[in-house]
Order: sequence, then structure tokens, then C-alpha cells
Amino acid sequence: MISISKKTLTTLEDAAREAARNAYAPYSNFSVGAALLAEDGEIYVGCNVENASFGLSNCAERSAIHAAVSDGRGRGDFSALLVFVPGGTCHPPCGACRQVLSEFLLPDAPVYSACDSGEIVAWTMGELLPDCFELPASGGAE
Ligand code: THU
Repeated sequence: MISISKKTLTTLEDAAREAARNAYAPYSNFSVGAALLAEDGEIYVGCNVENASFGLSNCAERSAIHAAVSDGRGRGDFSALLVFVPGGTCHPPCGACRQVLSEFLLPDAPVYSACDSGEIVAWTMGELLPDCFELPASGGAE
């Protein structure tokens, strides 16, 4: 696993907690924040943005990826992600987010989850999604 200093981990947790405060989650009341660490130390944050048409809701992790890509970042530019979820249990990213994250984080990049208990749980990207979908080089054309 790519190693992250305790200080950086605390910075990521603070950033994700802060981002969760901006969540738009009137339907679930579950405000999530994510902090994505770029290799040069820059941090991109995201929060969940829900919609009355529930399926259109966006998770915090994907919001953070979208913010980073919108700022010119790309594949392999990131060293870690931390997601903050409310409550006493740390949850890993959902399946859809795992697929999206796996396109940008290397298999040995750490993915952390923090919650109100103060505990932090860590996985590698590869543990969370060992067999991500990748489009064949042909793009599917025979
Ligand atoms: N949510 C996230 O933002 N990240 C996850 O990994 C799981 C769930 C959001 C989606 C929805 O707005 C709310 O949490 C409840 O599922």
C-alpha cells in the first residue's frame, strides 16, 4: 500500500469532514464528504449531491473525482482518497464509486473511511475492486 503520513491523513480527514458539511442530502440525511489527494499534495474534495429523482444522486467520492478532473487532473495523478461518513461505523465506497475510483487510483493506493467514532479503516483500491471493468483497447470494435 502507498504510505501516507499521519499528518496528511489528518488533513484529508479534516477536508472530508468539512466537505460533508456542504452535502446536499435532503432525502437520505446521510451527508458524506470525500478528500482526494493528488501526488503533488493538492487535495480535491467532494460531497454527495442528491436529487428528487433518486437515481441521479451523486456520491461524494465521484464528486471529488469530477472536481479534480475538471481542474486538469487525470489517471494516475492521485495517491489516496478518504471518505467521511456520518455515524459510528466507517463505510467503504459503494460499488459504483469503486469502479470510477479504480480508473484513477492505482491498485495499491489507500482508500480510507473515517466516521464520527474517530476510527479510520483502510483498504487498498485493489482490495475494494480486484477486477475492475476496463474497456478493451479496440473499444469493443471487432
Ligand atoms: N453515498 C456517498 O456519497 N458515498 C458512498 O460511498 C455511499 C453513499 C451517498 C449517496 C446518497 O446521497 C447517500 O450517501 C445515501 O446513500
